[in-house]
Amino acid sequence: MTEQVQIFDSTLRDGEQAPGIALDGDQKVAIATQLARLGVDVIEAGFPISSPGDFESVSRIAREVEGPVIAALARTERDDIDTAWRAIRHAAAPRIHVFMATSPIHMEYKLRMDPGDVMAAVKSGVARAKAHTDNVEYSPEDATRSDPDFVIAVCEAAVTAGATTINIPDTVGYATPGDYGDLIRRVVSEVKGTRRDVTISAHCHNDLGLAVANSLAAVEAGARQIEGAINGIGERAGNTSIEEVVMALKIRKDAFEVDVNITTEEIYESSRLVAEHTGYPIQYNKAIVGRNAFAHESGIHQHGVLRNRATYEIMDPKAVGAAGSSIIIGKHSGRAAFKFALDRIGIQLDPSTFEAAFRRMKEIADQSGEIPDSQLRAIVDEVVSGIEVLEGVASSFQ
Ligand code: KIV
Ligand code: ZN
Repeated sequence: MTEQVQIFDSTLRDGEQAPGIALDGDQKVAIATQLARLGVDVIEAGFPISSPGDFESVSRIAREVEGPVIAALARTERDDIDTAWRAIRHAAAPRIHVFMATSPIHMEYKLRMDPGDVMAAVKSGVARAKAHTDNVEYSPEDATRSDPDFVIAVCEAAVTAGATTINIPDTVGYATPGDYGDLIRRVVSEVKGTRRDVTISAHCHNDLGLAVANSLAAVEAGARQIEGAINGIGERAGNTSIEEVVMALKIRKDAFEVDVNITTEEIYESSRLVAEHTGYPIQYNKAIVGRNAFAHESGIHQHGVLRNRATYEIMDPKAVGAAGSSIIIGKHSGRAAFKFALDRIGIQLDPSTFEAAFRRMKEIADQSGEIPDSQLRAIVDEVVSGIEVLEGVASSFQ
């Protein structure tokens, strides 16, 4: 049987940590409800100790959103963990996500703790969480800049204390697919081993633009949970983009040989809702959900797509909930696309008018880029009236 990769969505926690985003309770519940429709396995609803508002939103999601596991983040302190638990305890399937950094720079400058203190805090934090629920995740923050032997030792201690998911954060987006895959492979073989109840998870940031590639390398190395955010939002350059990683696993199932539970047709709506509520626009050329993800302007590509979409598209736009492919008229467009665009707005021209309109379109597109339908109509009107005037002039000389 094909193995499943769990999708852990942190749009409402790590995603919301992006500068300038502050979602209120209603917005968080609306996004979480859509994430449940999308079919994510886990929603990390927030960091309840961080603010009363966050506590309230996490509690509402735990009570109101059905389907996914509802996770809350906590440091290893008792108060953090108990607060996280109070926020999620009404969920049908709650999870406490405990984190503590293991890298030298974080231990020395941020935590002011030595490795022995970190080890002790992880053991007691995970055990405290385990006293509330069986479903406990531990993350060695900044794992990719930590001593791998220490990461393994701390993760083993976390599992002994009751953690069922071990998540390996590339907190500052420093890893390459090669080194991240190697670290995950070690954690899979040395921490998970043959334990069926322990899942190894990937959590990647995008500082070098490698978050999705690193997450996929983790899957190849045996990770069976991927963490990320819709539209890739998150601290600095963001997190792994859920829609990209999901579609990579779906479209290249031949390469990754795993399944995900996602209803991909809900991707567009999820992306649109997150962009609307966060105020973070989606870049035009963003994979899967960008305005241009299924748009074609160059003549050769348009000609191909009009004959067979698969010439220049590797997925059906409808599979991700998009309306369809779009043919954009601009300076690179050819006659086939120009005719297609005129047909689309109900305009048929005789061959010579068509040719004149096509030439005029090229002149205008050279200056202004994309030609919307309203401008196409104006071009045709101009050309037709110009021809009529010339014909009128010609006929007066007859
Ligand atoms: O990037 C990170 O290290 C995190 C942890 C809290 C999991 O977001
Ligand atoms: Zn993170």
